[in-house]
Formats: sequence, structure tokens, C-alpha cells
Amino acid sequence: MYTQALNAPQSDERHLEDADKSARFEARVANEQRIEPNDWMPAAYRKTLTRQISQHAHSEIVGMLPEGNWITRAPTLRRKAALLAKVQDECGHGLYLYAAAETLGSSREELVDQLLGGKAKYSSIFNYPTLTWADIGAIGWLVDGAAIMNQIPLCRCSYGPYARAMIRVCKEESFHQRQGYEIMVTLSRGTDEQKAMAQDALNRWWWPCLMMFGPPDQQSQHGNQSTRWKIKRFSNDELRQKFVDATVPQARYLGLTMPDPELRFNDATQHWDFGAIDWQEFADVLAGFGPCNRDRMAARRKAHDDGAWVREAAQAYADKERARRAADNAVAA
Ligand code: 3HC
Repeated sequence: MYTQALNAPQSDERHLEDADKSARFEARVANEQRIEPNDWMPAAYRKTLTRQISQHAHSEIVGMLPEGNWITRAPTLRRKAALLAKVQDECGHGLYLYAAAETLGSSREELVDQLLGGKAKYSSIFNYPTLTWADIGAIGWLVDGAAIMNQIPLCRCSYGPYARAMIRVCKEESFHQRQGYEIMVTLSRGTDEQKAMAQDALNRWWWPCLMMFGPPDQQSQHGNQSTRWKIKRFSNDELRQKFVDATVPQARYLGLTMPDPELRFNDATQHWDFGAIDWQEFADVLAGFGPCNRDRMAARRKAHDDGAWVREAAQAYADKERARRAADNAVAA
């Protein structure tokens, strides 16, 4: 212990060394060079990335639940196949993202424990119920549409493993968005009852989708620093506005009405102005009081407990393989 202490750089030296590394890190980020797992990075960069990527992974995994609920009730075989593939894709996205988060030094077990223990956040949007088949259309169209708007810029995130994971995720999200929009096209051209169902789904999902982009910029704790580090390329409000601008014409094509009497095109800004978001509702959902928070966490905990035997079996197999390799090496030596 004493020897280690003697070998350690004096605190002034360490400070200078860190300042040097920090300057090199900042220069790399400024020059659009990717930061990779073995590169030096400030502790705060590592921490905020672990936070964001793991929350993102949790969102993908919890996000399987509202839609998984409709797999057995999809109206046709084609719809069932598409929904099944979509829900499996979300699971895959969770896995890529947990793997990306692990490159920052936290184990998957730790991250999952944070979710199951209620310490880690996941996207507010997955705490709303899917009441009718039209909700599956609205989720694909709006939730996946909002996810793409937020995630395309993440393909240019400064951290390599996250940026690369997002490229594939975005390709799949684009299929998800299209299958959802196609459901909405079918319903809105169907019977009066189907059209009413589509309108009702839009009414219920629109405002929670706007909340997905996070709090307004003035209240975004991490926004400025994450933008400086090129983790985020656009602010929460910028992405929210882009989403509104892209989605209003899509709703018009469907012949549906946006549930916002204040929505109007602003000729001066060339953007759609929209009404006030209920940030109290957002805060309540984040605090665990959304319509489905308890059900979602109960379902995740049950799935985790039910899967314990799979993890144990995989661990036993890995231990056996390791022991076999060690025995083979001992014989060869
Ligand atoms: N739901 C839950 N928490 C949210 C939230 C939301 N919609 N929006 C923001 N928050 C949380 C933040 O995580 C942060 O909490 P923390 O300090 O405890 O970590 C707090 O609110 C303040 O927000 P900030 O604006 O300061 O946070 P960020 O700068 O990290 O921005 C973000 C928030 C825009 C969500 C950003 O983290 C991000 O882009 N994340 C990656 C994308 C992501 O996670 N998307 C989730 C949906 S995934 C999905 O939709 C799957 C698809 O298949 C449908």
C-alpha cells in the first residue's frame, strides 16, 4: 500500500496530466473524432453517457410491454407478423444499448438492477396504456416517429459504440414508424368506427409524445453539457419542434385532427406553433405516478425472476467451458 502511494504522481502532477488529457479529449470532440472505450475521457462524460445509454436501453426493454400486449390480438396474420418482428427489434435495441453502456465500465447486471430497483429512469411514454388496436398504429407512427427524430442525430454522437448502435436502431425504427402509419392509413380510411378509434388514439398519444423529448431547454439539466460534448446535436425543444413540423402534415393526410386548438402555422418562423404542454403530468409520470408505471415495473421484475434459470444455465455452461479449456491447456503444457 505504501509503495503504491510512493509511486503515485503528486497531486499537482496528476492535475497537470489530467489537464493535458482533458485538452486532448476536448480537441478530439471538437474535430469530430470519435471517442472509443479505451480512450481517456472525463469522469463526467463517462457518467452522463452511462446514464443516457442505460436509460435508453431500459426504455427499449420496457417499451416492448405496451405493444407485446397486442400480439395475440392483432387483426390479421400479416399485422401479427409485423408486430412480433417490431417487438423483437425493440429487445435487440435494448441489447445493443446495454452492450454499448457496458463499454463504459458498468455491468449489465448493475444497470438492470438500477431499473428494477426503481433508481433508473426509462422513457415516460411507456407508462401509458394501449387500449385499442389503433394504439398500435399511433405508437408506430408517433412514438417511433419521435424516437427517430431524437435518434438520427445520435448516429453522430461523439461516443463511438453509441453512435454505431444507433445506426442500426434507426434503420429498424424507420420500419416501425412505417408499419404504424400504415395501420393509421387503413383505419382512417375504414368505417366511421375505425376512424373514430384512430382519432381517439391520436388524442391520447399526441401530448405524451411531445413530452418524450424531455423538459423544456431552460429546465434541461444535462442539455448544455451534452451538446458541448456532441452527445446531443439538437436541444429538446429543437427536436420537439422538428417532430411537430413533420407530423402535422401526416395527420392532415390521414384526415385526423390534432388535439391542440392552438396549433397553427406561423408564417414568420415557418414552423407550427403549438399549445402548452402539461409539464405537471410529465413530472408525475417520472415520479412513478403515470397510468401504468406500477404494471410496467411489475412485469419487468417478473420477467427478470422468470429468466433467472436461463442466466444460471448460461453461467454454468460458461464455467464448464472455462474449466474444460483450462484442463486442455494443462494437458498441452
Ligand atoms: N422520460 C423519462 N425521463 C426523461 C425524459 C422522458 N421522456 N426526458 C428527460 N428525462 C429525464 C432525463 O433522463 C433526466 O433525468 P436524470 O438526470 O435522472 O438522468 C431529466 O429528465 C432531465 O432531462 P435532460 O433534458 O436534462 O436530460 P437529457 O439531456 O439526457 O435529455 C433525452 C433527455 C432527450 C431523453 C436524452 O437522454 C436522449 O436523447 N436519450 C436517448 C434517447 C432515449 O432514451 N429515448 C427514449 C425512448 S426510446 C424509444 O422510444 C424506443 C423506441 O423503440 C420507440
